[in-house]
Amino acid sequence: MTGGAGYVGSVCAARLVETGHDVVVVDDLSTGHEDAVPEGARFVRADIGEAAGDLLAEGYDGVLHFAAKSLVGESMVDPAKYWNGNVLTSLKLLAAMREHGTPRLVFSSTAATYGEPEQVPILETAPTRPTNTYGATKLAIDHAITSYAKAHGLAAVSLRYFNVAGAYGGFGERHTTETHLIPIVLQVAMGTRDKISIYGEDYPTADGTCVRDYIHVLDLAAAHLLALEHAVKGEHQVFNLGTGTGFSNRQVVQTCREVTGHPIPAEFAARRAGDPAVLVASADAAAEVLGWSPERADLTTIISDAWEFTRARG
Ligand code: UFG
Repeated sequence: MTGGAGYVGSVCAARLVETGHDVVVVDDLSTGHEDAVPEGARFVRADIGEAAGDLLAEGYDGVLHFAAKSLVGESMVDPAKYWNGNVLTSLKLLAAMREHGTPRLVFSSTAATYGEPEQVPILETAPTRPTNTYGATKLAIDHAITSYAKAHGLAAVSLRYFNVAGAYGGFGERHTTETHLIPIVLQVAMGTRDKISIYGEDYPTADGTCVRDYIHVLDLAAAHLLALEHAVKGEHQVFNLGTGTGFSNRQVVQTCREVTGHPIPAEFAARRAGDPAVLVASADAAAEVLGWSPERADLTTIISDAWEFTRARG
C-alpha cells in the first residue's frame, strides 16, 4: 500500500490488518505521519517510484495506491509537483507492477476528475473535464491504468472519492495545511481558530452555499476491501464513492454546532476559485457491482466521529 501513513490510507491499512491481510505501507512521510501506520503493518519509509521495484519483487497480491499530492490550490501554482509527484510516480509503480506480475491495483481517484458537472448526481459515464491540475493528474493516471489493464491484463479499480470526512478510532485527518471544511470548522470549536469563513453565499443552491457529498472514511475503507475482491483481470473498473446526498456548507457548519455545542462564529467570504456549486455522486454502480453501501452516511455521525478524533488529539 502506498500512502498508508496518510488520512485515508491509514484507515484502510487499519481495516486491512484487522481483516487478516499482510500489509506493507510505503510512504515518504512528505505529508503522512509514521504514527498513523497501524500496528501490525510493516512500514517502509521510501520514495514510491524508487522503492516499488524492489518491494514488488517480494511478491504481492495487490497494490492499493493512495500516495498523492492532493491540494487543489497548490496544484494550480506548482503544477510540476503534481505532474511529477502524482503521474510520474504512478507510472513507475505501474511499470514495477508489470515487471513483477503484481495482479491487482486499487487506485485513489477523485471527483475532481469530472470538473464542473453538467448533471447531478454524477455518474461514472459523465464527461471528465477537470478544472484543476490535481484532477487532471488523477485523470491522466486513470487513463494510464486503463491501457495497462487492456494491454497487460492488470485487474484495476479506480475509486473516485467525493468529500471524505470522519475518523476511525485513532486514525483521522491531521493535515499540516488544512483546507477541508469539516476539520477547519472543528478547529473553531477547539478554539484554535476564531471563526469559519464560508466561501460564497450566492451559488445557485437552496441556501446559496456550495453542496458536497460527504462520505465517512470507514465506509470508504470498506469499498477498498470490496474493490480488491471484485477486481477483474484485464479490466479497469471505475466507481464513484459518495452517499448520493448533498449537504450545503451552511448545513455542515450548523451540524458542527449541534455536535460540538460550540457557537462556531461564521462569516461569508468571496467564492473560492474553482469550486463547483454542487458535487453529489451517484454511487449506484458501487452498490450494484461491489455490493457496497455506506453505513455511516448520516452527517451527524460523520461529524461526531471527526469531533471525537479532534478532541482526543487535543
Ligand atoms: N469551504 C469553506 N471554507 C473553508 C474551507 C472550505 O467555505 O474554510 C467550502 C469550500 O469552498 C467548498 C466546501 O467548503 O464549498 C468543501 O470544501 P473542501 O475543501 O472541504 O472540499 P472540496 O469540495 O473543495 O474538495 C473535494 C476533495 C478534493 C477534490 C474536490 C473536487 O477534497 O480532493 O472535492 O472539487 F479535488
